[in-house]
Amino acid sequence: MENKKIALVTGGNKGIGFEIVRGLLQAGCQVYLGAREATKGEQAAAALAAEGDVRFLEVDLANQATLDAAAARLQRETGHLDILVNNAGINVPGDGSPGTADVRSVAQVLQTNFLDTLAVTQTFLPLVKQAAAGRIVNVSSPLGSLTIVGQHDWALLGYSASKAALNMLTVQLAYELRATAIKVNSAAPGYTATDLNGFEGTDTPAQGAAEAIRLALLPADGPTGTASSSTGVLPW
Ligand SMILES: NC(=O)c1ccc[n+]([C@@H]2O[C@H](COP(=O)([O-])OP(=O)(O)OC[C@H]3O[C@@H](n4cnc5c(N)ncnc54)[C@H](OP(=O)(O)O)[C@@H]3O)[C@@H](O)[C@H]2O)c1
Repeated sequence: MENKKIALVTGGNKGIGFEIVRGLLQAGCQVYLGAREATKGEQAAAALAAEGDVRFLEVDLANQATLDAAAARLQRETGHLDILVNNAGINVPGDGSPGTADVRSVAQVLQTNFLDTLAVTQTFLPLVKQAAAGRIVNVSSPLGSLTIVGQHDWALLGYSASKAALNMLTVQLAYELRATAIKVNSAAPGYTATDLNGFEGTDTPAQGAAEAIRLALLPADGPTGTASSSTGVLPW
């Protein structure tokens, strides 16, 4: 029990997040499955209960009170957090190419994928600092790479900007924490069949989860301040 790493995965009730929870359980972690809806979160945790110590934790990125309550519960139950996976994210109708994207849709996706994720990170950072060697994984996307997007016809301005901003959080937080044992990295799943894209993705959720799981379990000599997919480090 004492040696189990404690992990929190936001948006753990379905899709890539659910598979990240599963992978961390299989690696022997005690996992808090974050979800904004109790019914969905409890059902997901029940579905994974046979695979290890998994507990539903109410985490609504848009509701700071749930973040504070979740952090207080972790403080009581574990006193630290070894692994924070910022997985929850959205893609919204109305986002699109710069000439036509609905500005409110762009604002909505930036709010959730960047600003609210920043709030989650700030809320749980004190607990991560209390771990021996914390790991923070931001689930980004190849669409957050300026280099990659510049070479493709992938105009989804708000979503791409939100993931590029998330990558900036990764870089700056890694630098801020450079004197500590904490590592902060972005994981970029490939095109994965989930609700986010109407299940049109070509990878399975387990494949989409693999890089985030690897980064969550990085050894002491692993990198910090990077973005990578299962095929290697991505350009910014
Ligand atoms: N699918 C892909 O091809 C792909 C590729 C690259 C990166 N990603 C990234 O992977 C991550 C997971 O996405 P997915 O594909 O697994 O999509 P998904 O199946 O739609 O899952 C998204 C998860 O985020 C949760 N969420 C959204 N807003 C939230 C909020 N305000 N508070 C708490 N939870 C919230 C959702 O909860 P509810 O169930 O309550 O809505 C759900 O659990 C996202 O960051 C996404 O951008 C996906």
